[in-house]
Amino acid sequence: MQLFIDSANVEEIRRVSAWGAVSGVTTNPSLIAKEGRDFVETLVEIAGMVTGPISAEVLSLDAEGMLEEGRKLAAVAPNIVIKVPMTAEGLKAAYAFAQEGIRTNVTLVFSTNQALLAARAGASYVSPFVGRLDDIGYDGIALIREVAEIFRLHGLDAQIIAASIRHPVHVTQAALAGAHIATVPFTVLERMVKHPLTDLGIERFLADWGNRPTP
Ligand code: E4P
Repeated sequence: MQLFIDSANVEEIRRVSAWGAVSGVTTNPSLIAKEGRDFVETLVEIAGMVTGPISAEVLSLDAEGMLEEGRKLAAVAPNIVIKVPMTAEGLKAAYAFAQEGIRTNVTLVFSTNQALLAARAGASYVSPFVGRLDDIGYDGIALIREVAEIFRLHGLDAQIIAASIRHPVHVTQAALAGAHIATVPFTVLERMVKHPLTDLGIERFLADWGNRPTP
């Protein structure tokens, strides 16, 4: 399973890019709005740092508007992936983008049938939202497992991005459930690095080294 960062903050993206473990970026209108910057300017800056896929979401609700917005965003860099919402209009747009060779990420997926429709429409990525399902008492990871099984059984090429990841356990569970990618907030990526025994181990090694007998 690959790891993407779910962020529009260029400093966070720069920091995790240096680790070499994170191979793409997903943004959404809420994340972009949080930064208080120009959308395209932010994308240009991210594209200067990341060679993997960068998802940029359209705001229009009709397919025509999505196509117009998406073509402009796709022109920013060759690795921009257009995020469209999982609606009938979003499917229409995903299908049209696929004919034009523009990759899409169908977002806000909450059921297996939505994922199946998105994959059949020609989406390159589908994004089931794990945390938001958990929030309302459903099992987000079970959705990832079922979508992965359906895509495997029927030879569907779309990549599953486990989205709305809330904590490190979600990442492990998404990998075990068969997600191709998990898109992870910066704070969760930071927590994934940490283990108290690692810190303690470093402390002890350094203490032992400091107390070594002089040869
Ligand atoms: C996916 O691409 C979305 O940006 C994201 O994962 C949404 O997650 P949230 O539920 O934390 O807003």
